[in-house]
Amino acid sequence: MEVPQHISIIMDGNGRWAKKQGKLRLFGHNAGAESVRACTEYCTEIGVKYLSLFAFSEENWERPAEEVNGLMQLMFKYVIGEHDTFMNNNIRFRVIGNYEHLPEDLMAAVHREEEVTAGNTRMTMILMLSYSGKWDILQAARHYAADCLAAGRQLPLDEAGFSNYLATAGIPDPDLLIRTSGEQRISNYMLWQNAYTEFYYTPVLWPDFRKNDLEQAISDFNNRQRRYGKVE
Ligand code: FPP
Repeated sequence: MEVPQHISIIMDGNGRWAKKQGKLRLFGHNAGAESVRACTEYCTEIGVKYLSLFAFSEENWERPAEEVNGLMQLMFKYVIGEHDTFMNNNIRFRVIGNYEHLPEDLMAAVHREEEVTAGNTRMTMILMLSYSGKWDILQAARHYAADCLAAGRQLPLDEAGFSNYLATAGIPDPDLLIRTSGEQRISNYMLWQNAYTEFYYTPVLWPDFRKNDLEQAISDFNNRQRRYGKVE
């Protein structure tokens, strides 16, 4: 069985999961943190090299302040609380997104954790926070334009070169993208990077998503034929 090098997950359905139990949305997000732990552990075990998780989009800032603040607190608690897991399992931790929008205390904790785990090599775990695909492409275009201005000429640019301007520079494109909760859309997530990614949708709500669901997604991935637009 081929283990995807990079698995990415759009973690969806926390709100519906909570509602089903008559609880507040934040209850679902808290429960979702347990699924994050389970998936990180399993991916590390089976040899996945990159696990990226869509934890908060640029659009999510429009949610009610109470939910946004609760989510930021949850992220903070997670970054602080997972330190031993990252170190004991040789996991490199990273956050990718629009840092400008993220609270200072959270960013300070993130940068500390990124620094101490920078030498870890077994798997890189990436939280996509305040991230959106269009934002990423736009910031890349701006950086490229700034480099051209600085150089005083139009610099050559190809697809690989443009990828290096993206916030995900250096990280291979996702092989498998999983979205939970039955929704089947990309929701402004890694638009450039997912050009040839295999998509897998499951009705399972994120707080219920566990190792066996991930196994099923990987097994499905193994039945796909990736042709990258060519013929066999
Ligand atoms: C989508 O569910 C989920 C989010 C917007 C937040 C993702 C956050 C977590 C999974 C929390 C745990 C993560 C970490 C890293 C600690 P939704 O609120 O859109 O659910 P709904 O579609 O049912 O309303």
